[in-house]
Amino acid sequence: MSEDKNNKSKLWGGRFAEATDAFVQRFTASVEFDKRLYKADIEGSVAHATMLEQAGILNTDEKSKIINGLLEIQQDIESGSFNWSIVLEDVHMNIEAALTAKIGDTGKKLHTGRSRNDQVATDIRLYVREEIDHISLLVRALQNGILNLAEQNADTIMPGFTHLQTAQPITFGHHLMAWFEMLQRDYERLQDCRKRVNISPLGSAALAGTSYPIDRELTASLLNFDKPSTNSLDSVSDRDFAIELSGTASLIMMHLSRFSEELVLWTSSQFNFIDLPDRFCTGSSIMPQKKNPDVPELIRGKSGRVFGHLVSLLTLMKSQPLAYNKDNQEDKEPLFDTIDTLKDCLTAYADMVPAIKANKENMQIAATQGFATATDLADYLVKKGMPFRDAHEVVGKAVAFCIKSDRGLDELELGELQNFSDSIADDVSDVLTLEGSVNSRKHIGGTAPAQVKIAIANARALIS
Ligand code: ARG
Repeated sequence: MSEDKNNKSKLWGGRFAEATDAFVQRFTASVEFDKRLYKADIEGSVAHATMLEQAGILNTDEKSKIINGLLEIQQDIESGSFNWSIVLEDVHMNIEAALTAKIGDTGKKLHTGRSRNDQVATDIRLYVREEIDHISLLVRALQNGILNLAEQNADTIMPGFTHLQTAQPITFGHHLMAWFEMLQRDYERLQDCRKRVNISPLGSAALAGTSYPIDRELTASLLNFDKPSTNSLDSVSDRDFAIELSGTASLIMMHLSRFSEELVLWTSSQFNFIDLPDRFCTGSSIMPQKKNPDVPELIRGKSGRVFGHLVSLLTLMKSQPLAYNKDNQEDKEPLFDTIDTLKDCLTAYADMVPAIKANKENMQIAATQGFATATDLADYLVKKGMPFRDAHEVVGKAVAFCIKSDRGLDELELGELQNFSDSIADDVSDVLTLEGSVNSRKHIGGTAPAQVKIAIANARALIS
């Protein structure tokens, strides 16, 4: 990429007496990273040229030349023969200059009635819209994987935790369905964000609109936008839609980081609740026994960069006066890296989750430790007429006794239990078992296998 000694090759060189400083040229150029918008840029230009002809601003021959030239340029870019130039600053001017080089002076008419400001705003929206659709499919693929694993484990018992201490027995299927719910809200946020993305800024021109008789409804519909934007100043300047996607991506990454933390814990030999296939793990260069859950760890770590990009985008937009400012060129790298990172992490998860193997026996054994059914015993006493606070106290004492004698509540003789309350009868054994505990929580949103199976069926219907 070469320097431009007299701004001759620039598309805006007219009023300049000296060439752009070489450093400034490199510093202000965005082509290295915005060239990935080429498809959206060409799509937007084709729609604009089509509209210009309908409005009588271009004749049919000019329109055809422009569109054919643009499509050839797209092929050149895709075949790798296109020569990107830093002198031409960005993707928009690279493509426009190539068009004029290809078809002659007619190429110079394409930019009638528009500006790079509405052009770039249009391009990013087209790009983001397409990526939202890809991301949404990946979220759905992961949700499907979760449903399959949950189905295999609807009645697999494990300890449920609060404060990472054993709390109450739950089913693994129920735990997985919690992940599903998080992703469902993420999916809905993506769809909601898409609505605000899918508005056409094209025709806003630099900031004030244009004096040509343009048809903004036509370009909006050619580009499958829902409608044209309603204020030209706002639509060339605000990148809130990109920030919204970045916020949604951050929430997804936050969720993936939580899943990752659990996978890392569960694969440790102390938990040993699950196995991840070898293909998702790596070894240690020094410790021969190691099988490290690198993929979930890395995804947990990558959440940091996505959150960082959200802060970058918010900060670049903060305090910007209307309308377009060059600050906005800085939206691209954080936005693109957010999208790339998120897609990679979702792809890894969608592949990994269906391959998780639950070590059902270990999960069940772990659930027998830590007095997971203590709440069930308290609830049992309440059902026999004792106020809950008294029941809590009674069971607390029984647990203390168990700790001293190194036994579980279900290992106490009936007579021993009755020392704590004479309301305890031999039907107590039903509530002290793990199965009894989970089966009793059979209301909507509860952990009972029967309820989990209903939740899975509802979820399948929701996403199909
Ligand atoms: N490369 C610029 C960007 O990404 C395109 C818009 C430039 N507009 C301008 N008036 N300098 O925002």
